[in-house]
Amino acid sequence: MTVWWLFLTLSCLSFSAGLQKFNKYDGYKVYEVSRKARSAALELTLSELVKNESYYEVFSGFKGGNSVKVMVHPDEQVNFVRLMGENNVAYDIVNRDVGLTLRRQFETDRMLRQWFPYNGRLGTERYYSHAEINQFIEDLARDNPRRVFVKTVGKSYEGRWLKTVTITNGDARRNKNVILVDGGFHAREWISPAAAVHLINELVENFEGNADLLQDFDWVILPVVNADGYEFTQTSPDNRFWRKTRQPSSSDCIGTDPNRNFDFHWNEEGASEDPCNNTYAGAKPFSEPEALVVRDLIHSFADRGKMYLTLHSYGSLILYPWGWTADVPDTVDDLEEVAAEGKKAIHEATGTVYKVGPSTTTINYAAAGASDDYAFNAGFPISFTMELPFGGADGFDPPASDIDRLVRETWIGIAAMARRVIQKYPLA
Ligand code: ARG
Ligand code: ZN
Repeated sequence: MTVWWLFLTLSCLSFSAGLQKFNKYDGYKVYEVSRKARSAALELTLSELVKNESYYEVFSGFKGGNSVKVMVHPDEQVNFVRLMGENNVAYDIVNRDVGLTLRRQFETDRMLRQWFPYNGRLGTERYYSHAEINQFIEDLARDNPRRVFVKTVGKSYEGRWLKTVTITNGDARRNKNVILVDGGFHAREWISPAAAVHLINELVENFEGNADLLQDFDWVILPVVNADGYEFTQTSPDNRFWRKTRQPSSSDCIGTDPNRNFDFHWNEEGASEDPCNNTYAGAKPFSEPEALVVRDLIHSFADRGKMYLTLHSYGSLILYPWGWTADVPDTVDDLEEVAAEGKKAIHEATGTVYKVGPSTTTINYAAAGASDDYAFNAGFPISFTMELPFGGADGFDPPASDIDRLVRETWIGIAAMARRVIQKYPLA
């Protein structure tokens, strides 16, 4: 396996050396500034700087985590480095040429698509398109007609069908409790739909090993919420870091952050009113058809839904409400208890250290109008945002060779949390 990947990497290296095509991110660098080194004054300077979105892109929230990664335009790097020097701030360069990295990655992905064409199942060899994922769940349902059910739940702005897959143990018992999982809210977080697909595979293909997870619970999964955005990031390296939906706004800028578009403390703290901003809350709550689809799913399971889980990347975090305020819900102990199971299981299995906590104070910024708060408020007693680990040079692009490891690890965490949920909320 390792030798194989080495071969692939080498052949892509030599290939991409010959690729001359100009790319938007050519010459961009990613700097990592450690949190300890950052003074309040620097923090302020940085937050001013990054308002200039044509020069800067911040990958992890400024105050979030132990370090912040900033992608800087070639024309601004001298200035950035000078500023760090003046403030005595140490930094690492984590990527010297983002454009080159992206071109290699796209070339690898192109080859992987040829080597691993869709064949009725989805493995962890590569990232899959939205259309392939839809086809996959349709095929699963056809092959497992008593256990797997596909439902078309809506349409994206550009007209892609959004489909859920419901996985049961085939006993035809109705009104079981429900675990609702979604992926692909944010377009560039490719590992999220991959993790959703793996979860589907586990529950369907390994259903004997996971029989306890399906005894009194049905699982409903929407693998790619923001289908338009996800497809957009796959079309060109220039679009790789797209986050939002693709519906035009009143300005020239396109898209809304679907995870700021929910009608619960909408457009409060941590959401932007600027359509050009990456966290634009939208012209109104639920302006995005994709957010509406998730809203309706949440409501349709409000009585039997026991856990809502939305998969994002990156940060290695399990976050629970609230995300709109620094307050925590009365049932914080329940949320902690379930999340701790996921953290522990992952740590034991792979050594990866997840952090557990309430959204606002754990990532150190409020983000109102998100789906996790909405689902919790609507009646899901357990509601989490799981931020999968950083991957690749920029955090959002774990190389295809890492997919397998990451999605397996994620599943271990999810299964452990689900087992605790099933124990805590037995079928009435
Ligand atoms: N990275 C996610 C986002 O910014 C975190 C959301 C956490 N949940 C919340 N309600 N703030 O959308
Ligand atoms: Zn996200």
